[in-house]
Amino acid sequence: MSSTKAYRAALLHCLADPREAGAEQSHEYFEDGLLVVEEGKIARIGAASDLLPTLAAGTEVVEYPDALITPGFVDTHIHYPQTGMIASYGEQLLDWLETYTFPTERAFADKAHAGEVAEIFLTELLRNGTTTALVFGSVHKESVDAFFEACEKRNLRMIAGKVLMDRNAPDYLTDTAETGYADSKELIERWHGKGRLHYAVTPRFAPTSTPEQLTLAGQLFKEFPDLYMHTHLSENRKEIEWVRALFPERKGYLDVYDHHGLIGARSVFAHGVHLCDEECQRLGETGSAVAFCPTSNLFLGSGLFDLEKVEDFGVRVGLGTDVGAGTSFSQLQSLNEAYKVMQLQGKKLDPLKSLYLATLGGARALYLDDRIGNLQPGKDADFVVLDYKATPLIDYRMRQARTLVEKLFALTILGDDRAVKETYAAGVSVHRKAS
Ligand code: GUN
Ligand code: ZN
Repeated sequence: MSSTKAYRAALLHCLADPREAGAEQSHEYFEDGLLVVEEGKIARIGAASDLLPTLAAGTEVVEYPDALITPGFVDTHIHYPQTGMIASYGEQLLDWLETYTFPTERAFADKAHAGEVAEIFLTELLRNGTTTALVFGSVHKESVDAFFEACEKRNLRMIAGKVLMDRNAPDYLTDTAETGYADSKELIERWHGKGRLHYAVTPRFAPTSTPEQLTLAGQLFKEFPDLYMHTHLSENRKEIEWVRALFPERKGYLDVYDHHGLIGARSVFAHGVHLCDEECQRLGETGSAVAFCPTSNLFLGSGLFDLEKVEDFGVRVGLGTDVGAGTSFSQLQSLNEAYKVMQLQGKKLDPLKSLYLATLGGARALYLDDRIGNLQPGKDADFVVLDYKATPLIDYRMRQARTLVEKLFALTILGDDRAVKETYAAGVSVHRKAS
């Protein structure tokens, strides 16, 4: 029996950044489209009228009227151990870490607990249409084993790493430069490149690592091909002052990472809210990426990310939820908040650019755009079916909309997990909304 399956719906995906290619050239849209999937990959995409006659007799065609298929969403920054502490009241970054985050992450020394939370976390990502994420574990290597085991069962493309933290954190949550290096290496050898899994060397942020630990992290980053580096950068003003005090010999926050060999292709820095021009320049010229985390930046009162400025320097930018400082697993909700972050700076976020950030832009930030990010033939069949009738209000709003872009914008403002009808990973349904 053939494994070919086809999906009929409106289809929309990005081919390029609308900022570079212009709106028209940046995307492809089929109002009545057909997506043909074979062996977990996209085989063909086109108008249903063109492709239906080409299908072998008996090929199953799944029809989604009143729905829009897009690529699966890419979340370029999130913490799975923080799932249970999302929506914790009243603090900004440094106090929030002490009060809520560190005590919550302590429990991830227990692999059984880590495994339970990993299941809840992945279920939540898929309920929200996110098929790939760059994920912080906790300092415990067991947390990453538990996470990758859960990802492997669902055949998801995921990137994760053990946190490195050897100072300025509670004793129960620290490693050492040497154990952090050895544990990370063991995890890399076990998981990096296994199926659809990738490893990220993950120093939490400059204040919680000694220069020795950052040096070894940089060494590790160079040692293995295609490894990621994942950390935080310039999120909060007090944090930045603290980094200056801890590393007075460095030019600034980014220079701490640069000095230790932690920037370049596959380095992803969460936030970058307060970057200076020189830092943007360096991120751009080294092929590093920034994760824009609007719900988190608003929730922690961190500041307004200047997307246009950072992109002017050629920096790759993806979208991150940053749960548990972020307030939603939904990239649609992240885009809602991203739009408002831009409005507060007198700027606009074009709906096609929003889609780009949540899909192909995220894939480019992660150097995975040869595998995910859009629906071109050969890519992994990771896609999401968005429901134009998700709620009575969305249904009513969609019926007023005249254009695709108007519909897309309304979905990003009004949509959340309720708008995700079904999610597919490698051609297999991994979430279907109860109807
Ligand atoms: N900086 C260092 N650790 C964290 C974290 O867990 N969340 C956020 N938002 N920022 C951080
Ligand atoms: Zn974070």
